[in-house]
Amino acid sequence: DAELIAAGKKVFKKCSACHQVGDGAKNKTGPHLNGLIGRTIGSVDGFGYSSVFKQANEEGRIWDQAALDAFLAKPKAYMTGTKMSFAGLKKEQDRAALNAYLATFGE
Ligand code: HEM
Repeated sequence: DAELIAAGKKVFKKCSACHQVGDGAKNKTGPHLNGLIGRTIGSVDGFGYSSVFKQANEEGRIWDQAALDAFLAKPKAYMTGTKMSFAGLKKEQDRAALNAYLATFGE
């Protein structure tokens, strides 16, 4: 719903130093996050992923809401060896809001 999406937009400020979304989104320190839900892990062209991401990509693993929630809770626990330097979002509500916000950029 609209409130959750608005809350997610605020939480995304924690991500926007490294990630872009929306029209013209480019890869920065992290890959762009358009069309994330349903996207194969580690599949953005031209982005240099870590080996754990490359392996998940070869296994055909997908970013669905559950995988994204688990990753954002503890990135380094869910993807051991990731080069994403982010401690994680402790509040389930923040993760749900971010999930809703990111889903607005395409599935
Ligand atoms: C990867 C989300 C914060 C840097 C990813 C991926 C997602 C994501 C979903 C996987 C994308 C894919 O498979 O193509 C987020 C969200 C954040 C956040 C929602 C905020 C809550 C950050 C921050 C940084 C960062 C602050 C930089 C300090 C990266 C990098 C990768 C990555 C480098 C590639 C990981 C690898 O290859 O191991 N992020 N991120 N992210 N993110 Fe973030």
